[in-house]
Amino acid sequence: MCGIMGYVGDKETQRVLTEGLRKLEYRGYDSVGIALNDGETLQHEKSKGRLEVLEEKLEGAPLAGSIGIGHTRWATHGRPSDENSHPHLDEQSKFAVVHNGIIENYMEIKREMKEAGYSFTSETDSEVISHLFSHLYDGEMVSTIQKVVDRLEGAYALGIVSEHDPERLYAVREASPLIIGSGDGESLISSDIPALLEHTRDVYILEDGEMAILSKEGVTLMETETGKELTRDIFRVDWDMEQAEKNGYDHFMLKEIFEQPTALRKTMTGRLDQEAKRVDFEELQWSPETIQQWNKITIVACGTAYHAGLIGKHVIEELTRIPVDVEVASEFRYRRPIIDEKTLVIVVSQSGETADTLAAMRQSQRLGANVLAITNVVGSSIAREADEVILTMAGPEIAVASTKAYTTQVLSFYLLGLYLAESKQTVTEQKYKQLIESIIELPEKIEGMLEHSQGIRWYSDSIKDAKSVFFLGRGLDHAVALEGSLKLKEISYIHSEAYAAGELKHGTLALIEEGTPVIALITQDEVSEKMLGNVKEVKARGAQVLGVAEEGNLDIWEYVDETCYIPNTPSILTPLLTVIPLQLIAYYTSLALGNDVDKPRNLAKSVTVE
Ligand code: AGP
Repeated sequence: MCGIMGYVGDKETQRVLTEGLRKLEYRGYDSVGIALNDGETLQHEKSKGRLEVLEEKLEGAPLAGSIGIGHTRWATHGRPSDENSHPHLDEQSKFAVVHNGIIENYMEIKREMKEAGYSFTSETDSEVISHLFSHLYDGEMVSTIQKVVDRLEGAYALGIVSEHDPERLYAVREASPLIIGSGDGESLISSDIPALLEHTRDVYILEDGEMAILSKEGVTLMETETGKELTRDIFRVDWDMEQAEKNGYDHFMLKEIFEQPTALRKTMTGRLDQEAKRVDFEELQWSPETIQQWNKITIVACGTAYHAGLIGKHVIEELTRIPVDVEVASEFRYRRPIIDEKTLVIVVSQSGETADTLAAMRQSQRLGANVLAITNVVGSSIAREADEVILTMAGPEIAVASTKAYTTQVLSFYLLGLYLAESKQTVTEQKYKQLIESIIELPEKIEGMLEHSQGIRWYSDSIKDAKSVFFLGRGLDHAVALEGSLKLKEISYIHSEAYAAGELKHGTLALIEEGTPVIALITQDEVSEKMLGNVKEVKARGAQVLGVAEEGNLDIWEYVDETCYIPNTPSILTPLLTVIPLQLIAYYTSLALGNDVDKPRNLAKSVTVE
């Protein structure tokens, strides 16, 4: 998963590339590099570490040229190092290549190339590509690309420049995202849309098995295998540039936390009629008969999206009585899931490009299931290939730690649950309307909570040196606890566990000692007595407990050391409120520890490799 960027045009190419890479850094930041063609030769610079390191190197010796490629790396094959950084060049420096993805048969190709006398300077899978170009070059770029690609197995988005063709930039896509930008007198490639917006809003989304030839004059798309030219409508991006910028906030994560009320309102728009108090999804093509035939729903996702799926299970089962399974995509794809045409599979993915989720979706379609995608990125692989799509309207999410994507996914499940329940007549009119009224109020309630966001900061200071933090909850609170724990782990690097509170005494209680911080979520009316019993258990072992409960719940004072209140709402809806202080705790703890909040170590935003 890495980010790639390419440019041909009259602007200062080096700057276009580095600025683009800055916007793609969320995809990986282990190393960075660029290569430019100055009309005669290829020049390149690359470096382990962040973009600033490369920029320092370039300050003394800028690269010239009106065509170039760049790469920001998330290391998979080979540790982060200068040598393993992209672009990779062949021995004669005639071809420079940037690659996002994994070449699965690189060992075999590397062996062959070594036998043919090529020497390698990196441990990466990607370096074989530049040597293949050198080896297979036949005097013509398109046919050479076809020959190179014919040898590659795996996933790849490639950007290629060559000394043999100083006017054109080439791009190829197979199972890794790649966007082509078409501007006025300039053309670009990028792994994602925000990096293009400064230059153009007119893009083509390259499909698997396709390549593009870019020049100042424009873009030609073709089928890679046959070379057949393709015609495709331009996709006009209507995002606001500001949405992809920090906009005065210190970090993208904080900005995105604060954008949640707006993101939720946008996700409701067109689906929730506030006057009539009805939910409708015009974008879904299901007939009542189709809905009626499903005897099972399977939700598949990774990470935070999986946690949203856990809420989805609870909501859909509660409202429709259809049994729902939730599975981690990386597990689902490698077993023989029991799925058929009577199953609705829901895949959830912010990026719409997560490799495991995409594979799980394709597998489900092969098995005959109808697949609904809940995704945030229009034009992403998952959005394009799913049978039905609910687009969350969170806008671009840049911070690696997902916040607004999660809450809009959870909201989508509430709306979907109500939509299905109405169709199946499994909910009373009174409950249906009451839930809708309460959903409409949620963004304002979150705004109210965010006005006091600093109020939770002291708690982050108190846990920042903890060895381990525990999150406890029952029912929906357990699902939210998992998300709170993941947020804390990923950006604070503090070990943390989320437990179904009743399960604690079956082993994990042994880890609770004097002073262990425990965050107990106590918002589910039906099990709050039981939950308080579990709080007593950890208190008896010396835990320091922060209780998160609804306003007016004064009973918890007797049990916990500190409280954090959320506004009142029906129990089924509390996840959208409970998660807010947990996001803020993770954010402020990361800040207190001096970590890079938006780009936590070892992680990347979009996991387009297995
Ligand atoms: C969330 O904070 C994580 N960075 C991660 O778990 C993420 O949710 C996961 O990789 C799935 O990504 P997707 O939603 O783009 O598929």
